[in-house]
Amino acid sequence: MLARVLTASTLGIDAFQVEVEVDISRGLPSFSTVGLPDNAVKESKDRVRSAIKNSGYNLPAKKITVNLAPADIKKEGTTFDLPVAIGILKAEGIVTAENLEEYLILGELSLDGGIRPARGALSVAVLARNTGKKLVLPVENRSEAAIVDGVEVYGVGSLSELIEFINGNASVAPFTIDTSEFFSAPSETHLDISDVKGQGHVKRVLEVAAAGGHNVLMIGPPGSGKTMLAKRFPTILPDMTLEEAIETTKIHSVAGALEPGSALVTRRPFRSPHHTISDAGLIGGGRVPRPGEVSLAHNGVLFLDELPEFRKNVLEVLRQPLEDGKVTIARAAMSLTYPADFMLIGAMNPCPCGFLGDAHKECVCTPMQVQHYRSKISGPLLDRIDIHCEVPAVRFRELSGERSGEPSSVIKKRVDNARRAQAKRFRESGIHSNSQLPSRHMKKYCALKGEASKLIETAVERLGLSARAYTRVLKVARTVADLDGSPDIGPQHLSEAIQYRSLDRQLV
Ligand SMILES: Nc1ncnc2c1ncn2[C@@H]1O[C@H](COP(=O)(O)OP(=O)(O)OP(=O)(O)O)[C@@H](O)[C@H]1O
Ligand SMILES: [Mg+2]
Repeated sequence: MLARVLTASTLGIDAFQVEVEVDISRGLPSFSTVGLPDNAVKESKDRVRSAIKNSGYNLPAKKITVNLAPADIKKEGTTFDLPVAIGILKAEGIVTAENLEEYLILGELSLDGGIRPARGALSVAVLARNTGKKLVLPVENRSEAAIVDGVEVYGVGSLSELIEFINGNASVAPFTIDTSEFFSAPSETHLDISDVKGQGHVKRVLEVAAAGGHNVLMIGPPGSGKTMLAKRFPTILPDMTLEEAIETTKIHSVAGALEPGSALVTRRPFRSPHHTISDAGLIGGGRVPRPGEVSLAHNGVLFLDELPEFRKNVLEVLRQPLEDGKVTIARAAMSLTYPADFMLIGAMNPCPCGFLGDAHKECVCTPMQVQHYRSKISGPLLDRIDIHCEVPAVRFRELSGERSGEPSSVIKKRVDNARRAQAKRFRESGIHSNSQLPSRHMKKYCALKGEASKLIETAVERLGLSARAYTRVLKVARTVADLDGSPDIGPQHLSEAIQYRSLDRQLV
């Protein structure tokens, strides 16, 4: 007997359909899987055998052949267990459903016939919607899949439950979810930018960065509040749209980084990997490449604290995602591209002892030491950071005072307004923020008039700005003008943006 069951697997963040064919014929009892399975898929037969037996069914003592088509794409993972088991039971006549091909079925089996959660459920749900299939998957993944509109989702907890359902003995309603609920849930963070005393100009810098999606490097002595400020940065970022939330969730789901029970990533991710991270951890890697920190930070923030402590080769791999908003990982088995459009926030001390340029403490580093320390951050990387910002030590008067500036909610309102202005401007260009502006559109959106164009000319000459730094200054100036509600970039906006390139003068 031959049976056919449809399932899906993921490649990168997209899912593709896989057909599981099961043939049971007379002969010496055996169980073989063909169609480029990896080890986890090959091991599937032991789980399937035990799960069928422990669910109270008989596994036939015959020759079982399983084929996974298309046979030219490598199949990996454990979610083929369930379709293989259903295929065997169908071939044996225990599953009687005639409409099996209307379903995509996936899930990992445990030996007792239970079903374990899978990775990539959201991507599979998108595939099911596009191909008009119903989706049967582990009960833990059902809310994640139900985010996608227009697909019938059924969550099942065990093999026997699935057989009852598919044979039509138990009626189960498709699972539905209200996505607006996720977004209205109050944030559980108690952090607020007003916790940070003083540092008014750094808060302004973070506001500009949030408004235009710009990268920031903060430089200052130990204990000045850099880490503290960066941790509070997400509280002034604009809310995620549903489209952005789905994009980010797909990546987290494929990486298996979605928190148990959570269906949708509705807050912008804030990733702060430790400086001992490897380049594969940061960019993504593995035999079948999985997303790294840069992709997990997609639509959110990647915070690299103590920037010069990261290994140089690790920092250099950031160049591609910072420029393109995506990252391509090539491995022997395959090459995959993951989205990686994040805002980079870096923090560092000005020198190894941390007190170079400090008004009160003397720096004990030699010029050689300072140069060595700073040279870890290469020119090209620095070039890709729009805003450089000094974070001086806070004065005692400020630290002991009551006043601590505006709360996050007030700053966020201005950021939201500036983002709205950008969304309106870029309606037809397919970009969301000033930082994504490609250079071919610079003339159109960042035109300078009169005094402002004279100012940029002098700045380029005096500071020796590179071509990339020049365009970055213009983009930041555009954001400053947006925060001001001004349609044109004026000299005051431009001069604020030029101030933010302080390191071009010092470092290179
Ligand atoms: N501006 C500030 N307002 C209130 N508290 C502050 C401020 N700056 C520093 N602190 C206090 O000092 C502690 C250390 O700050 P933080 O870790 O942010 O410093 P840092 O600049 O990251 O230092 P390092 O360079 O050593 O990493 C904070 O936990 C906080 O208690
Ligand atoms: Mg710190």
